[in-house]
Amino acid sequence: MSAHGTPIPMTSYKCGPLTGEAHVPGDKSISHRSLILGAMAIGETRIEGLLEGEDVLDTAKAMRAFGATVTDHGGGKWSVQGVGVGGFAEPDNVIDCGNSGTGVRLIMGAMATTPITATFTGDASLNKRPMARVTDPLALFGTQSVGRSGGRLPMTIVGAAEPKPVRFVVPVPSAQVKSAVLLAALNAPGESVVIEKEATRDHTERMLTGFGANITTEVTDEGRVITLQGQPELKPQHIVVPRDPSSAAFPVCAALITEGSDVLVPNIGLNPTRAGLFFTLQEMGADLTFENMREEGGEPVADLRAKFSPNLKGIEVPAERAASMIDEYPVLSVVAAYAEGKTHMPGVKELRVKESDRIDAMATGLRANGVAVDEGEDWWTVYGCGHGKVPGGAMVQSHLDHRIAMSFMVMGMGSEAPVSVDDGSPIATSFPIFEPLMGALGARVERS
Ligand code: S3P
Repeated sequence: MSAHGTPIPMTSYKCGPLTGEAHVPGDKSISHRSLILGAMAIGETRIEGLLEGEDVLDTAKAMRAFGATVTDHGGGKWSVQGVGVGGFAEPDNVIDCGNSGTGVRLIMGAMATTPITATFTGDASLNKRPMARVTDPLALFGTQSVGRSGGRLPMTIVGAAEPKPVRFVVPVPSAQVKSAVLLAALNAPGESVVIEKEATRDHTERMLTGFGANITTEVTDEGRVITLQGQPELKPQHIVVPRDPSSAAFPVCAALITEGSDVLVPNIGLNPTRAGLFFTLQEMGADLTFENMREEGGEPVADLRAKFSPNLKGIEVPAERAASMIDEYPVLSVVAAYAEGKTHMPGVKELRVKESDRIDAMATGLRANGVAVDEGEDWWTVYGCGHGKVPGGAMVQSHLDHRIAMSFMVMGMGSEAPVSVDDGSPIATSFPIFEPLMGALGARVERS
């Protein structure tokens, strides 16, 4: 079943050189946060370059349900008239976050310390994913929750009437959990402290600073210690969303594996907590360069140039790099199939609780397409076939997971036989222009 009930099977065929510029959409993580923090500020936040994918549109709808005025001005320009920290109204109806773990977890945090009740649901993928990782720390503020067995959606959250500040050590490397707690801490009086042992994407911290919150991060022996003073008045911002490195990964990786390719992917956010894939590809021997490095809106940005790279080598991907490329392992495993030798990817247990079990989904699909894979609970190894020797030829299940669908479409661009997915509709959650964008570069991706 697709996100909308109508599966869209897709097939990707071997193609000639990919050339030109790939203007990928705005960053998904920053887009969600722009809407949520805009709704928690007093006054009008203006956003340019918002990702208009289904996940973010669901967050926009949710912010309206909590009382913010969210307006689409066209061309990626949006505005949010915020209601202030603690100003959320109780929604009249169930909040449907669709496919988005980031949306639901961050919104649960944002409402958790306001005395209102809200019920959350999602699609078949989201309703399988663990929510206790968020509701457990929210309980420390005094928030109550009741969901299905295993802490799954649908779930009702009763916001704390008299929230207490917290000190919380994040037990899994998750920016969603960290961010949910920070957003909840906004409406708790006094100082809350969130500690993460491994650095995860820090957009929430950077954006809270921009919105005028008193937030500091100190790196100590315990990890990153983030201290936030509660009950600030957040000031509205003008946000220019950088383009998404996680979406850039697809045209970049496609260019590396297709003969003669030369693709420029401009304006990509290169926050160090997100850029792990690009360094990994360079270590594998990819012809990938960062041009025009600069800073925009508090985030490092560059233009990426990726060229066909016939001599890719398998490598050991450092486990400590996992958080900075957690969404990119599916497409990395495709590049690994085109490399000589094995690529070992340890420390990636979190891949098992994404939109799908991504180790299982990719390993099954890679094997079906003639690539050998070994896997354990928190690691996997892809045995590369080398350039021009990836067989392809199979239909793969996308499991309602956009990144699985796009990764196999990239795989088909260089394999001997075409590669198909049963349902490409989830691609619209994060990269609604994937098909025309890849088509304009020279790829052949068809709805079948
Ligand atoms: C995200 C955090 C990551 C990532 C997701 C976006 C965010 O999830 O996989 O796509 O915007 O905070 P986890 O927090 O579960 O690692």
